[in-house]
Amino acid sequence: MAYRSAPLVTTAVLAGLIAASGPALGQGTGNPAAGERIARTWCANCHVASADQTTASPDVPTFRSLAEREDVTEDGLSVFLVTPHPPMPDMHLTRDEIADVIAYIMSLAEK
Ligand code: HEC
Repeated sequence: MAYRSAPLVTTAVLAGLIAASGPALGQGTGNPAAGERIARTWCANCHVASADQTTASPDVPTFRSLAEREDVTEDGLSVFLVTPHPPMPDMHLTRDEIADVIAYIMSLAEK
């Protein structure tokens, strides 16, 4: 996997930045179209990451189910994605990529 920038920011700083810049849920700074490309490339091996995907690993939450969970927030996702979290590998996403992927995940909820 390409090892791109590994920003030396703490999760707290990152969560603060995103919290400060994200107005309403689902209305953050990320670009959902870019996030979809990232999700299809990096996440779809394990997660059902898009509407046209039908299979992935069992026991791994689909992105749509994440988007629809009451306890899942953009801040929570951003912290999760910069924190190593076995069994899920550390994806080494940049801050922008994380914002994009979160915007994409949140866009999947049936509203
Ligand atoms: C190698 C398999 C794998 C890949 C690739 C992967 N994940 Fe995961 N992911 C998992 C597993 C397994 C879990 C469940 C972890 C747990 O329950 O603690 C998980 C959990 C998550 C959760 C948290 C779910 C919750 O219940 O709070 C999020 C968010 C998530 N993944 C996002 C992503 C994103 C975004 C990508 C791509 C950038 C990605 N994952 C790529 C395996 C993977």
